[in-house]
Amino acid sequence: MIDEGVKALFNPRSIAVIGASRHPGKIGYTILRNILDYGYKGKVYPVNPKADEILGLKAYKSVLDIPDEVDMAIIVVPEKIVLKVAEEAGRKEVKVLVVITSGFSEVGNVEAEEKLVEIARKYNMRILGPNIFGIAYTPLNLNATFGPNELKPGPIAFISQSGALGIALMGWTIMEEIGVSAIVSMGNMADIDVVDVSEYLAEDPNTKVITIYLEGLKPGTGRRFVEEMKKITRKKPVIVIKAGRSKRGAAAAASHTGSLAGSDQVYSAAFKQAGVLRALTTEEMFDWARVFASQPLPEGEETIIITNGGGVGVLATDAAEENGVKLLDPSPELKEAFKKTMPWFGSPKNPVDLTGQAVVENYVEALKIAFESPEIHNIIVLYCQTAILDPRELAPAIIKVVREYNNKKPIVVGMVGGIETYEGMKILKKNNIPAYPSPEKAVVALSALIKYKRYLEKQSKI
Ligand code: ACO
Repeated sequence: MIDEGVKALFNPRSIAVIGASRHPGKIGYTILRNILDYGYKGKVYPVNPKADEILGLKAYKSVLDIPDEVDMAIIVVPEKIVLKVAEEAGRKEVKVLVVITSGFSEVGNVEAEEKLVEIARKYNMRILGPNIFGIAYTPLNLNATFGPNELKPGPIAFISQSGALGIALMGWTIMEEIGVSAIVSMGNMADIDVVDVSEYLAEDPNTKVITIYLEGLKPGTGRRFVEEMKKITRKKPVIVIKAGRSKRGAAAAASHTGSLAGSDQVYSAAFKQAGVLRALTTEEMFDWARVFASQPLPEGEETIIITNGGGVGVLATDAAEENGVKLLDPSPELKEAFKKTMPWFGSPKNPVDLTGQAVVENYVEALKIAFESPEIHNIIVLYCQTAILDPRELAPAIIKVVREYNNKKPIVVGMVGGIETYEGMKILKKNNIPAYPSPEKAVVALSALIKYKRYLEKQSKI
């Protein structure tokens, strides 16, 4: 059962910003401005004893003075005032506190953090943080963070235990056309933890895939993580990047968010047991998330590569073998069909090599065959930039075919070349077709989808 406080994080009817500042450039000002600018439709109440009005809204001396119920209170006052305003929020029957303030267990101030949790328990409130950059939930037009404010809505949820990295990645998702449902900063996890948030997102119809930047779990929560994540990964894919793999990295993680780093092998085993996919870099995590966000699960394992370059075809073949992607051996009939899409010196085997003289029509015909053939379950399209085929023309043609076939098979695209290929990939990504700047990345991203499909099949047999 998801608790009311966690629900209120994603569906607050009203928000108080305690420590909303009058001064542009301060965190308490930026959060309030982001909430207003991103279009949150609920009620917003700035709280600041020194102000009458902030950003055009009436300000209150205390949360207790607000003449309305308050579901969420965002705390942006210095550490020494946090307990006092938290107590007031409790008396106001606030459901969830979002505590931005730093200076708690991450710097050894365990006592204040424990007191904060005591206050929350006393009043049946939940706490996100402390030491966080906030929360964003795009279906509600809510951006209660001090990060960038141009978030692109979409089905990828991102949970981050690191603040600065989380904020940085918010900006990166915008640049990379990655649509997000939620961005949740976890910080010290004094109360609400990664599992609580994942449990909510597993039920959230606006989220298709959950991504997590994890530094470490709280002592004693490992078993719960595995047990609950096992249930969650049966509903939705979860991709984790676990920092602190090395000894020194683990020590750095421990002092960053005050969490127990633990042995990396233990984490790897726990992820495996829980069906959580582990990415090694943030880029990889989002590469995979993009496939889960936009592509159907495959009906089977047989994969075809369609390319205009032999070299990228070979690289993709290696990557396929290394990552457990099964390349189809096409039947003679299928080879015959592919032969008609290429000059006589092309190759209808797998990779299907349309050759360097391929134009849009060759790709379109080969793609149609791939969608129609019952032998093929997964499609990888590769493109090497040539002066006779502009990637910005190829991209819309691919989109058209994928739509014509209702995207009934997973497809990933790898494009290698100059600036025009980036523009081509941008067109594809905007239209929900995962595109990557190398054949290997395309293959590895598809392999994550296939691995998850295998995991679900295995689970359904248990
Ligand atoms: N109730 C409400 N507001 C109050 C109260 C009160 N009792 N008392 C004071 N305020 C007001 C202040 O007057 C001020 O408003 P003003 O600017 O209009 O005067 C506002 O609250 C903020 O108080 P300041 O004393 O100005 O505090 P400041 O903004 O400098 O710092 C902050 C507060 C941001 C919470 C700081 O203590 C902090 O923790 N910073 C780190 C935050 C952070 O990085 N979190 C982790 C994020 S992740 C990452 O690393 C990116």
